Amino acid sequence: MNISDDSEVAGIHNVKLYTYKELRNATEDFSTANKIGEGGFGSVYKGKLKDGRIAAIKVLSAESRQGVKEFLTEINVISEIEHENLVKLYGCCVEGNHRILVYNYLENNSLAQTLLGESHSNIQFSWRTRSKICIGVARGLAFLHEDLRPYIVHRDIKASNILLDKDLTPKISDFGLAKLIPPNMTHVSTRVAGTIGYLAPEYAIRGQLTRKADIYSFGVLLVEIVSGRCNTNTRLPIDEQYLLERTWELYERKELVGLVDTSLNGDFDAEEACKFLKIGLLCTQDTPKLRPYMSTVVKLLTGKKDVDNSKITKPGLISDFMDLKVRPPPKAKPEIKTGSNMSSDSEKLGESTLTSGNTTSAATTLTASYDGSI
Ligand SMILES: Nc1ncnc2c1ncn2[C@@H]1O[C@H](COP(=O)(O)OP(=O)(O)OP(=O)(O)O)[C@@H](O)[C@H]1O
Ligand SMILES: [Mg+2]
Repeated sequence: MNISDDSEVAGIHNVKLYTYKELRNATEDFSTANKIGEGGFGSVYKGKLKDGRIAAIKVLSAESRQGVKEFLTEINVISEIEHENLVKLYGCCVEGNHRILVYNYLENNSLAQTLLGESHSNIQFSWRTRSKICIGVARGLAFLHEDLRPYIVHRDIKASNILLDKDLTPKISDFGLAKLIPPNMTHVSTRVAGTIGYLAPEYAIRGQLTRKADIYSFGVLLVEIVSGRCNTNTRLPIDEQYLLERTWELYERKELVGLVDTSLNGDFDAEEACKFLKIGLLCTQDTPKLRPYMSTVVKLLTGKKDVDNSKITKPGLISDFMDLKVRPPPKAKPEIKTGSNMSSDSEKLGESTLTSGNTTSAATTLTASYDGSI
């Protein structure tokens, strides 16, 4: 299909369209040297555009061959969104079977690589920086959830989708992408066991997708940022493997401070750090209704609202639900199969979500490899 076909692009005014040739030039023919990552949607390349800007160029995988019009309609929505804490979409390419997204390139990579990554990062995440990152991500998500009409449920809030610019301002990436992926394709990337740990149980198990599922994932991320630890770490002793479980345990023992990242060498505001951990617990409560909305989370994080008088109930843990724990399998990686006929929870609040409807491919069957003996 040719993009110059007016009937296809009629009414789509705001999206900058790149030619395949320009993006090929920008990335030196999508060379491996320019490849900066690979996720559930495809490969990401760093490239220099004709106008001199540096971009992150995301080549969606072959399966995502949506019609040009549908694709552009979604892209149109995403490209109009601007917020300090959201990655800016510059435009896209829809030539032939190519579906490529062009984003603002962020210098300091993702939180998954810098804060939680195995490889050494030269960024020092001071308490101030962490607190700024938590508040920024909360603001970005509050914007998607509460300022946009229709609002957007991100569905994949996790450390690899939080990118950092040169000043370490956090930017949420990949919002609005879920609709670009055909319903029969796995969209929840679970190549790493850790991803499962971000999923609210009601979403992972029953496919109920609401803003509250994002808020759950945010809560997990918050605890990760404060503790400097991944939500799942199978190398730790069994009772410490699941960060959220551990957080709850320490909360009950009134020892939350013990969870704060030791690499801070004690240089942090203990009261504030414990408050953040409590907010993480508020966001991950088992009952979705009890989780605060993101605008409230922003107020709690910034001290405009008090955390202390909130009652916190036990977090929802998939491991509890399934009565088993996920282990990194020796060969086959944990995977979540998607169901094509899942309908999303018609959340009562606000208007319909961009990611609801029959494109919802929520996780229905967890097919990870388990060690059921635990
Ligand atoms: N705008 C960007 N600027 C800089 N690096 C980016 C940008 N977008 C993506 N990346 C890099 O590319 C990697 C892969 O991103 P991608 O979104 O494809 O996968 P992911 O976030 O790991 O998983 P998922 O597909 O579930 O989002 C990211 O972890 C990040 O390091
Ligand atoms: Mg991503």
